[in-house]
Amino acid sequence: MPDPHTPCQRILVTGAAGFIGNAFLRRVLSKRPDASVCTFDALTYAGHEENLEDLPGAERHTFIQGDVADAAAVRKAIASFAPDAVVNFAAETHVDRSILDAEPFLRTNVFGTQVLLEACRAADIRLICISTDEVYGSLEAPLEADTDCALAPRNPYAATKAAGDLLAQAAFITHGQDVIITRSTNNYGPRQTPEKLVPLMILRARAGASLPVYGDGTHVRDWLHVDDHSDGILAALERGKAGALYHFSGSNEQSTLGIVRAVLDAVGPTGARIEHVRDRPGHDRRYQLDVSTTHAALGWAPIVPFAAGLASAVAWYLDNDAWSRATAGEDLRTFLEANYAGR
Ligand code: NAD
Ligand code: TYD
Repeated sequence: MPDPHTPCQRILVTGAAGFIGNAFLRRVLSKRPDASVCTFDALTYAGHEENLEDLPGAERHTFIQGDVADAAAVRKAIASFAPDAVVNFAAETHVDRSILDAEPFLRTNVFGTQVLLEACRAADIRLICISTDEVYGSLEAPLEADTDCALAPRNPYAATKAAGDLLAQAAFITHGQDVIITRSTNNYGPRQTPEKLVPLMILRARAGASLPVYGDGTHVRDWLHVDDHSDGILAALERGKAGALYHFSGSNEQSTLGIVRAVLDAVGPTGARIEHVRDRPGHDRRYQLDVSTTHAALGWAPIVPFAAGLASAVAWYLDNDAWSRATAGEDLRTFLEANYAGR
């Protein structure tokens, strides 16, 4: 087992062409000048080659296109890059897509996690499994899920993330494997596929289009800047204990309507209007995490103030029109049509 206090020199980051993995990749390349990082990503609709351009320390980055559910491809990547650790961000991540078709979620989030667990165990390297507050299900205010809370996922996405987490926990208990699970609340920041609330609303607001709010818009999420989350994951990678579970929250609860109004204010007047549409089936009312054990263990706390973080995220999407056009492909258009049809 590697010494958890030695910074990793070679990190394989799965899913780093997506939103959070990419922020983490950039964070590691800029904060750890001795580290080499390899991105392993299938480039699904949510993985964007554009995200792998203009990386800080690009000479220390390599890319392998591959599927985490393909055991031979994963083993080959580990053999050729020889990482000290793997951080797994590769996932199917959108609740609305999981409601339309759960199958890819099972393949990547459950089977893919098991493939990574086995490959990392064979190579005797640490695996960090990135997970979500959604595994605890919907919580009434002011409840917060602590790290002992029972899992109670309520949508197919959350159920597959919970299954992946249970496999990771089982690998630690059964094999003593060096595996860590991290769970966070909703992230916001640059380079998020514009199917999720924040970038979708920014781009629709800019276009003067309707802003589809599910149901009454009083559903609550906690919002954490993706750079704060990345710093927490880096702390878990470098200082975390094998078998531990860490929670990351922004301690910043907002309703959907609150977020959409803040986005509208930041984008400025374009004629865009909020439109209440039929609610998401099984829509969880609220998630929140207790972060006290993580603060104590890792000394991590979020530092990006929400107003400043949201303003900079809005500015990023408005300034990076080419990115928005490149990432809004045919698949995204087809999904959005299917998702909003009949709402
Ligand atoms: P994302 O959808 O933006 O990106 C997922 C990435 O994984 C993409 O690059 C995609 O190409 C890649 N990928 C998908 N299937 C793959 C496969 N089979 N093999 C290899 N690569 C594959 O996701 P995200 O929002 O960055 O989320 C990353 C992780 O963080 C996920 O595990 C998610 O559950 C978790 N998480 C996300 C949030 C959030 O607010 N976005 C909050 C908490 C936890
Ligand atoms: P989302 O970004 O899909 O994240 P999650 O459901 O995983 O938390 O959605 C965040 C919240 O915004 C959630 O309560 C659903 C709501 N929402 C809308 O009201 N309209 C939309 O078009 C989308 C995508 C989400």
